[in-house]
Amino acid sequence: MSDCDIGLLGLGTMGAALALNIADNGFDIAVFNRTTQVTRDFRADAGALTNRITATETLESFVASIATPRMIILMVPAGAPVDQQIAALRPLLADDDLIIDAGNANFHDTNRRATEAGDKPFLGIGVSGGEDGARHGPSIMGGGPRAAWDRAAPILTAIAAKHDGTPCATWMGNDGAGHFVKAVHNGIEYADMQMIAEVYGAMRDGMAMSQPDIAAVFGRWNDGPLASYLIEISQQVAAATDTDTGKPLLSIIKDAAGQKGTGRWTAIEAQHLAAPVPAIEAAVAARNISAELDLRAKGQARFGAAPQALQGALTIDQLEQALIAGKIICYAQGFDMISRASQEFGWSLPLPDIAKVWRAGCIIRSVMLDDMATALEDGDGENLMLSSRFSAELSTYHVALRQVVAQAALHGLPMPALSSGLAYFDAMRTERGTADMIQGQRDFFGRHGFERLDRDGTDFHGPWAD
Ligand code: 6PG
Repeated sequence: MSDCDIGLLGLGTMGAALALNIADNGFDIAVFNRTTQVTRDFRADAGALTNRITATETLESFVASIATPRMIILMVPAGAPVDQQIAALRPLLADDDLIIDAGNANFHDTNRRATEAGDKPFLGIGVSGGEDGARHGPSIMGGGPRAAWDRAAPILTAIAAKHDGTPCATWMGNDGAGHFVKAVHNGIEYADMQMIAEVYGAMRDGMAMSQPDIAAVFGRWNDGPLASYLIEISQQVAAATDTDTGKPLLSIIKDAAGQKGTGRWTAIEAQHLAAPVPAIEAAVAARNISAELDLRAKGQARFGAAPQALQGALTIDQLEQALIAGKIICYAQGFDMISRASQEFGWSLPLPDIAKVWRAGCIIRSVMLDDMATALEDGDGENLMLSSRFSAELSTYHVALRQVVAQAALHGLPMPALSSGLAYFDAMRTERGTADMIQGQRDFFGRHGFERLDRDGTDFHGPWAD
């Protein structure tokens, strides 16, 4: 076939799932993988979708199989492999053929690739939802020339998740805008997961609850304000049993979290933007700390295990309310970072549409995002915490967050994300903070100058200046 609607290069887990999704939505697709056997097996295993799939064994035949002007999705590991594939493809393509990088690229790389592409159309799209999302409906965050997005949109919106019939696939802006939004999504994903892990720790270590009981709590929470994919899968993870040993699954999993780097990119970029996202940074740091197994064992041997039992000090309802407050605070930080990037990079990132595109398909999908979309759409408060809906919830639930963080601190339970969320909340509602001391110190040792509350001007000095 030489008239496939689209081509997809890279049949790893995500690429294969995305290709089947595309075929399932009635599009003819050409596929190519560096290892030919993978391509053959993919088509052979495609069942009823086989006749929509053209399996190709050379880059030339892959390109020749796609109707012009072509659209080609790259689903290869982020980094150098993307540049290598673009370099290999370009000589075979016409100037109006569109390359779409659908991997988890660093948005700086996408910016560079957009510049290198010049007038040749190039899109960088963030795709969220894991393998199941890629197969049955991911959330898609697009970046690049609007005209190129419009060309790809019929296929991308068809394969995307739907929220009440609305496709979760949106153009975010030029160049790396889509991959930037995907990175912040992942930063929020890290913080959301970390906060859930922290309340899990309170139940397991502080309240000596069994895994089935913890699973039941997550199950109940999933019927309330916390209803979300991450709470739902936390219930399933907590309920699972290891098939080899019959033990609760969590009890045999090593507590060292992996990370591919997208959460770290968010924290790094937040620093460049001077965007305060301490809950996200704490979640990234917590993953780093989790990897320090030997050092943590030595710490326990040196200082002794903390006295963690907090029975009677906290209720399950307080944990739920603390998590609601923590979640609002972490999303407020993420959206604040997006709005700063929008100004810094001249992107006009559509905040309400970003909340909408995250309502289904992606890892952080939740009921709360629907209300966030409404609050952002109404322009209700310059920070999500100040919107009428979320300020009312925070006014109520920060009390529980405070109790949980305080009791955790007293009982030696580490809660880095929840406690940094609380500190952010308190700092953001303190009109007169303590940076007067920082400014005094800076002026003392470096004559950096300070502003005064009682006079105009920016370069006042303390008495040490003389
Ligand atoms: C998604 C996820 C996904 C991410 C993995 C692994 O939105 O589908 O964010 O893109 O890469 O979940 O991420 P870490 O290895 O960094 O945890």
